[in-house]
Amino acid sequence: MKTRTLTDNVEIPYLGFGTYLIPDAEAAALVEDAIAAGYRHIDTAEGYGNETGVGAGLKQALQSGGLSRSDVFVTTKLWPGNAAWGQTPKTTESTLTALDDSLKRLGLDYVDLYLIHAPYERDQRLAQWRGLVELQRQGKTRAIGVSNFSIKHIEELKAAGLPVPHANQIELHPWSQKPELVSYLNDNGITPIAYSSLIPLSTWRAVEGQRSAKTDAMKAEGERPDSPFKVMAKKYGVGEAQILLRWGIQKGYPVLPKSTNPERIRSNADVFSFDIDADDMATIEKMDRGDGVAWAMGDPTKAP
Ligand SMILES: NC(=O)c1ccc[n+]([C@@H]2O[C@H](COP(=O)([O-])OP(=O)(O)OC[C@H]3O[C@@H](n4cnc5c(N)ncnc54)[C@H](OP(=O)(O)O)[C@@H]3O)[C@@H](O)[C@H]2O)c1
Repeated sequence: MKTRTLTDNVEIPYLGFGTYLIPDAEAAALVEDAIAAGYRHIDTAEGYGNETGVGAGLKQALQSGGLSRSDVFVTTKLWPGNAAWGQTPKTTESTLTALDDSLKRLGLDYVDLYLIHAPYERDQRLAQWRGLVELQRQGKTRAIGVSNFSIKHIEELKAAGLPVPHANQIELHPWSQKPELVSYLNDNGITPIAYSSLIPLSTWRAVEGQRSAKTDAMKAEGERPDSPFKVMAKKYGVGEAQILLRWGIQKGYPVLPKSTNPERIRSNADVFSFDIDADDMATIEKMDRGDGVAWAMGDPTKAP
């Protein structure tokens, strides 16, 4: 499995299995399918409500595949709490407890990467980050990072004299390329991890209630027979999803395709058998449209 170095002695596989919107009861079987299909990196979160199922699937898959814990890279995320939604923002103390609770649900002694899910609470961001630094020191997570943080949010951590995150998990795909943020992350040794890579597909979150008005407007575009991703898929003899995932990997981003369909789980893993050529990479470079759309409640990188 191809990897990128996150920090000293920690390699993150480029191909990860995303689990957002996978119910807890279905997570075990799908995680097992993913590991059997060759995934060695699983992405979950306290906020997804499926850590118990993910952990059960992981345990089964390690047993049936004769794998060790260290063969699979596991990420989970701290739900920071958002006062605007009536939640209590986490403090340093409750951040420490939150990872203990996640580890219990996952049935693990440590995770490979622990992220702050979103930068909602200005007053609590530093407190939560101090918690993650301590958790890494305690060996409960091998690497630490953030998600949906902007340059300003990361500069805040630096200004407080705290360590720079190892990763920032953000929405990245041909329609939201975030060139300024990505070059800042690369300059600062922070690995960009891409989520929602498959947004340009007409099948992205096609289930009723999972889409927003903005993504609905894109659906028609994705269905056009002359869509550039359809044209490229034909040229390389692969599916459109593979083109979108391969684009992320060639940009240097670990990707996290989610699917509840075993056939798609398998085909999404076939991303190392072809290269997108320089002309097509240049064509995709011109498709950027700015902000992401995955969060129905507004772009969390715009948090104050
Ligand atoms: N940190 C954050 O704030 C954040 C936000 C969003 C996502 N994430 C992470 O990133 C992961 C991926 O993002 P995502 O779940 O938004 O979307 P995604 O993986 O980009 O796309 C998933 C959608 O595409 C469909 N799909 C998957 N493979 C397909 C294929 N080969 N052909 C056609 N359709 C396909 C899936 O449907 P089926 O399931 O029906 O196949 C689902 O509707 C998440 O699961 C989560 O782990 C993190």
